[in-house]
Amino acid sequence: MSGSLVHIPRKKRFIHVLLAFVTVIVLYQLLVPFYTDEFDYLSYRRISDTSKANIDAFKANSSPDVIRFYEKFKYDTSLEYPTEYDLQEDFFKIKYGSNKGEYWDQVKDVKFYDSDPRLEWSVLAYDLMQGNEKSDDKIPFAWYDWIDSHDYNKLLSLKENKVDCEFLFHNAFPRDKLRLAEGEIGERLFSYDRDSYDNDKWYERAVNNSDGNVILLLKKHYYVDPSNWPTSNKLGNDGNGSLTDTMMSYDNGVATLDLFDKVRPEVYQLQARSYVINTLVHPLSITIMNSDKESYQYLVDRDSRKNIITSGRLQRFIDGHGPETPRKSIKFDHINKFKQFVESDSAKEHKVVIDEIIANKQRQSDDSMPYVVLNENDFEFDAMAKIKELEARSDDLTPHEKSYLDSLKFSTSFHYAFAPKYFLESSHVQSFKKYGNHFDKRFFNGPLIADPFQMEMRLDSLIRNYQKFVKANGLISWLAHGTMYGWMYNGRTFPWDNDADMQMPIKHLNLLAQHFNQTVVLEDPSEGNGKFLIDVSSSITTRVNGNGFNNIDARFIDLDSGLYVDITGLSVSSTPIFDIINYYKQQSKNVDVNDIKFKDPNLIEGKTDFTLQELLVEIDKDPKKYPNNAKKDVNNMIQKWEKLKKKKVSIEENLTPEQRYNMHHQLQIYNCRNFHFVNLNMINPLVKTVFHGVPALVPEKYVKVLKNEYKVSNQYGFLTYKTNSFVPEFGSWISVSDLSTLMNKNQNDPKLKPVYEPINSLKIDDVYKLLENMATSGYSLMLSTIHNALSLNAYRVKELDITYDKDLSRDEKLDLLDIFRNKVGTTLTASQKDPWLHGLELRIWNELTKERPDDCSNARSFVDNKKAYEIWDSLLKASEGSNPMFRVFTSERSPVESAMITDNLLDFNKVGSPVYLPGKSRGINIFKSDPQLLDN
Ligand SMILES: *[C@@H]1O[C@H](CO)[C@@H](O)[C@H](O)[C@H]1NC(C)=O
Ligand SMILES: *[C@@H]1O[C@H](CO)[C@@H](O)[C@H](O)[C@H]1NC(C)=O
Ligand SMILES: *[C@@H]1O[C@H](CO)[C@@H](O)[C@H](O)[C@H]1NC(C)=O
Repeated sequence: MSGSLVHIPRKKRFIHVLLAFVTVIVLYQLLVPFYTDEFDYLSYRRISDTSKANIDAFKANSSPDVIRFYEKFKYDTSLEYPTEYDLQEDFFKIKYGSNKGEYWDQVKDVKFYDSDPRLEWSVLAYDLMQGNEKSDDKIPFAWYDWIDSHDYNKLLSLKENKVDCEFLFHNAFPRDKLRLAEGEIGERLFSYDRDSYDNDKWYERAVNNSDGNVILLLKKHYYVDPSNWPTSNKLGNDGNGSLTDTMMSYDNGVATLDLFDKVRPEVYQLQARSYVINTLVHPLSITIMNSDKESYQYLVDRDSRKNIITSGRLQRFIDGHGPETPRKSIKFDHINKFKQFVESDSAKEHKVVIDEIIANKQRQSDDSMPYVVLNENDFEFDAMAKIKELEARSDDLTPHEKSYLDSLKFSTSFHYAFAPKYFLESSHVQSFKKYGNHFDKRFFNGPLIADPFQMEMRLDSLIRNYQKFVKANGLISWLAHGTMYGWMYNGRTFPWDNDADMQMPIKHLNLLAQHFNQTVVLEDPSEGNGKFLIDVSSSITTRVNGNGFNNIDARFIDLDSGLYVDITGLSVSSTPIFDIINYYKQQSKNVDVNDIKFKDPNLIEGKTDFTLQELLVEIDKDPKKYPNNAKKDVNNMIQKWEKLKKKKVSIEENLTPEQRYNMHHQLQIYNCRNFHFVNLNMINPLVKTVFHGVPALVPEKYVKVLKNEYKVSNQYGFLTYKTNSFVPEFGSWISVSDLSTLMNKNQNDPKLKPVYEPINSLKIDDVYKLLENMATSGYSLMLSTIHNALSLNAYRVKELDITYDKDLSRDEKLDLLDIFRNKVGTTLTASQKDPWLHGLELRIWNELTKERPDDCSNARSFVDNKKAYEIWDSLLKASEGSNPMFRVFTSERSPVESAMITDNLLDFNKVGSPVYLPGKSRGINIFKSDPQLLDN
């Protein structure tokens, strides 16, 4: 690079640069007013990047690097790392404790490290390619490598002030110990409510809330040294539990054995991390994603916890560079390594292939098909037949299949009334309202919910990954409930939703269990750093609500937060219906209730097929055969049912379960375990769309499905739901109170421009005022959220424009949507940053803010203002029909002439009739009914 510089003596060069710089600034000040079209699109573009950065810096009164960093941090969701992984600084350097700032000498000396995708993927991909793991071998695994243990590591750094187990089981951390520990660590152990600990009243109350019993029974909850490790919990055969294999626990061997969540969130976080690292059983496998295209599965060693140090993986990786390679020169180019891995023999051998999905051509992966058709037989599953099939080839079952077979046998062995609760949430976490319910009990990792932005980011990653996972493996799953409702407006979930809901036909739920239950899904590291556990409940052959403990069939759980996607299977069942009554009334006339043609294949006569009343009689006959509280539980269920009947009349109340099953089968009525009913025609076909920037499926008749569940406004336009408003100009939901601050109607804030137009008919200039006000009042998050989702929103709106266009024919619409999805849909980027990368950048930004507060604050306000303008400019272009993302090169002919610019350039700006135009409120009632493009 430097060779190409013309050599000018140093002093002279400085003057040249200075002159050029001054000229540019003067020109720029003279010619262009602040942020106009000309500025951005003529002069500015012609100036080189460096000068541009210098102008920005001059304008902002900050430095170019700070501006660049902030802009990337907030307004760029691409997966670009700010720094490279540095073995010496990131791995060997001691980050906390009395030896802070020193370096560990050798790999085996390292006592703790942060899980870092650049590190983990480099060594894993290297090892897999080396063939160190043979195809039938199980690869070493430790949760520690794949979960965030940043805060937990602080405890691991303690030497003088080691905390004992009690520390993790009081409602609040014992304060004296906490202070001592933090003194040694050199920083705070946590931040949420940390200040409150210094308030005596608060602290006393918090301590008083500790559960006395758990302290008495503490032995049950933790384990101190290898000799008292209970045999039932040990990993492996040596009787020494995990600690012989991992260095990542306290030196004195304290580890959580049994979770107790009736403590404050900061306490529970560390308790639960200790549990996952030391006690939680290993997954059966890891499933490595190659985007949304395919996946590779490796079985995991479940007998010992071997992290990158104890497995020798890291040392092998380092040695692979040659014996004398200095630490600085060891490259952790994990994305390259991963790409090589994908091409390797190892990946080919481990590619996931599900024969049943290949045999069935209905599937999603064919990009030329705009829809997926579901069949009646996707909604009934014969577990008995499956058990026979698996048993017949019991010698060559994979560990996943063995576990699945056991589960089917278990699930069919009891009456539905006794299905044990499978999923556990951290619902007792204290001072946390009801929010603990949204987190898996094992993977809870702190009071994330206190930060709505972090929540949104995690959910975005979850949703994207779940969809990539199902698509890559040919599984069928579509958006449901509130998740689909959110999609309808802007292709994203509602920002206040704390989980995501997806449905699956029962057949695919079973395929999910057979091939992926207890696998850890690792996101393609060139796309993000998500890590998820697939967990399928133990009673999936039960399809009625029963005791109500198992409404959710499966979960896709984020290892770093405990948030999850809820997956429910739909199938024929005997659940009495309360829904889709009109359909039922019309259709049921033709069915003779007494002519039983179909029976639930999963019930065993005289064993699990009793009604609740019959079951009571059975229990009396032989109580020993049933659980302790069987009678009470069954009576409760009967009462619950009576109550439900009083509140809501079921049209099927007087039919027997057998008659209902038969009726539903014939009428193609399906439900999940939580009383949500659909008929096949309602959800069929599923159309392809984009959700959070990745391919997704929704029932074509989504309006009908949603109206069955919610009170859905007919209008696409400004609307308010509880405390949030959908502002179509921005394609985003904004809180009503923020919106009123930003409107500044009564000029409460002299710094903000007042907007006088009513919010539901903003002029395009008002839109700019609002954006400017966001920047002025420091609403950076709001701006970045709007900015980063602009293209997703534009995509969804164009989809609506085409779908509801009255002048296009059905075939034209289908063709257009197809090209649009394949050409524009595939170019969409994520609207949120990868959470891991965001965490890294946030730490850097916080450091920077500490060191150079003025620079940072100036950079921030400058960039926010600039982005406010850019957002506005982009909205303006969209409203004028010149959105650049809609111009695509394609050899396909457009079905409508107006869109053909040249033979191979197609402009989607020119198709569809706008359902909404900023400044020209149209208020069309598009959601009155479904577009119904496809015939059955
Ligand atoms: C905490 O408990 C002690 C002893 O039971 C009681 O004297 C004290 O008032 C309690 N403090 C608070 C703040 O509740
Ligand atoms: C278990 O750990 C103890 C203490 O570290 C050690 O003495 C013993 O040999 C170990 N047992 C086995 C079977 O590895
Ligand atoms: C999934 O795995 C868990 C843990 O092994 C097991 O309890 C459950 O029954 C399995 N579910 C299915 C459907 O295989």
